[in-house]
Amino acid sequence: MSLRERAAWKALAAHHAEIGGKHLRELFAEDPSRGERLSAEAAGLYLDYSKNRVTDETLRLLVQLARECELEEQRDLMFSGAPINTSEHRSVLHVALRMPKTAPLVVDGVDVVAQVHGELDRMAAFADRIRSGQWRGHTGKPIRAIVNVGIGGSDLGPVMAYEALRHYTQRDLTFRFVSNVDSTDFVEATRDLNAEETLFIISSKTFGTLETLTNAHSARDWVVGQLGDEAAVAKHFVAVSTNADRVAEFGIDTANMFGFWDWVGGRYSMDSAIGLSTMLAVGPEGFAELLAGFHEMDEHFRTAPLGENLPALMGLLTVWYVNFFNVQSVGVMPYEQYLKRFPAYLQQLTMESNGKHVTRDGRPIDYDTGPVYWGEPGTNGQHSFYQLLHQGTRLIPVDLIGFGQTLNPLRDHHDLLSSNVFAQAQALAFGKTEEEVRAEGTAADVVPHRVMEGNRPSNVLLAERLTPRVLGALVALYEHSVFTQGTIWGIDSFDQWGVELGKVLAAKIIPELTGAAAPNPEHDSSTRELIRRYLALKG
Ligand code: F6P
Repeated sequence: MSLRERAAWKALAAHHAEIGGKHLRELFAEDPSRGERLSAEAAGLYLDYSKNRVTDETLRLLVQLARECELEEQRDLMFSGAPINTSEHRSVLHVALRMPKTAPLVVDGVDVVAQVHGELDRMAAFADRIRSGQWRGHTGKPIRAIVNVGIGGSDLGPVMAYEALRHYTQRDLTFRFVSNVDSTDFVEATRDLNAEETLFIISSKTFGTLETLTNAHSARDWVVGQLGDEAAVAKHFVAVSTNADRVAEFGIDTANMFGFWDWVGGRYSMDSAIGLSTMLAVGPEGFAELLAGFHEMDEHFRTAPLGENLPALMGLLTVWYVNFFNVQSVGVMPYEQYLKRFPAYLQQLTMESNGKHVTRDGRPIDYDTGPVYWGEPGTNGQHSFYQLLHQGTRLIPVDLIGFGQTLNPLRDHHDLLSSNVFAQAQALAFGKTEEEVRAEGTAADVVPHRVMEGNRPSNVLLAERLTPRVLGALVALYEHSVFTQGTIWGIDSFDQWGVELGKVLAAKIIPELTGAAAPNPEHDSSTRELIRRYLALKG
């Protein structure tokens, strides 16, 4: 059945016509306990969703929509290892990456949890050797710098987690991340490093990604160039991949390879062996805490009633805005400097997952799917783009993420920071009326400029402080919110065919740019001219 034909969808459309214009000021005035009531809590995260343009009836209908779209059944299928990634005929089992050792999960005759823990144990043994200085480089020196080479899910998770957990990292180890095929990325990341003390982690699920393999070859040249011996590769390179053949072909001993499985999507892989750099940074115990946080949120998502279920609620609210308010984008603003790369991480998670135009069974879609996710650390954003959030013509729901404690107490900085979380949510919701502006004695011609319409929705997420465990819970929260949205929209949130065409076309153009082939006269006139000019500029 098409989504538009579902009873709950139709009821939501009628309901939106009725209450869509209602102001948050009215909603709060009608229910003095709204602020406490419309909240939920799990895995160390408190969600205040009271400043959303919803009534109890909206929430009831959204939950009904979730039921009609079989969210609970789809969720259970995912947790059971069913091949819910239909276009790739794969299971979607990132939740197994964080299941405890004691809970076996057998899929197609294989205990995937035992496999996961086998790999975690290998990673932990390796991490201990690197962190303690026991693993020696080619010339006998301990490793002091770790460079993760990967892109997309093989980079964004590792770099986000490293930045987020920097407080907990072993500070005598330096971590760098190279992703872009732009040579500047590699050159700047390695310019002050010494190959004798540097370990490269080549992270690629497929081990076939052009950017990563190009950077990996440059890394090998850099190591061999400095150390003067091909044999150095053995001590300065490890791989993380699902493709042992390609790893061996590249020249990395598969004994130094950490594996994962095709049931882990790239953007869902930061808690697999792709997190090796994270484990090297925070240690096996810190990594175990991260996994525990993920698992706690997984369990909440799996078991809590939909009306109290954080990821389900956040996903359903996004559907409400995207499909009934025509919202195009969602902002995520962490009020925690360590989470500065969290929005970038979320962009792949959300947009590669839900940027889809057909249903799971290939039918075209006649409603909007995934919104644009974006964001920056909060207070910086306030002095930049928040103007548009407050007074622009577009409705942009935001998630504001705050913490009760800072990891770096300094005078009253943290209270000043946190006051902004609450003040921004307040200003967005309630704004400032014309009467209020006039009452301040504002000159008549300036009044319209100072009026703030308000009625702009936000979620506030609050946790005690940023720990590996809280980070795990936070990431799992968004993973399952994405799952909830994708399930309502009836799409495959786990493939990414849209990124393929550009790769294929680039592969055809490369020889024309390197001089290995003559420029192709069959290109469209724009591409032909751009290539001609590029070659002229290249000289
Ligand atoms: O091109 C997109 C993508 O396939 C992502 O989904 C993935 O995370 C990234 O490329 C990197 O892929 P790999 O880990 O195989 O190098």
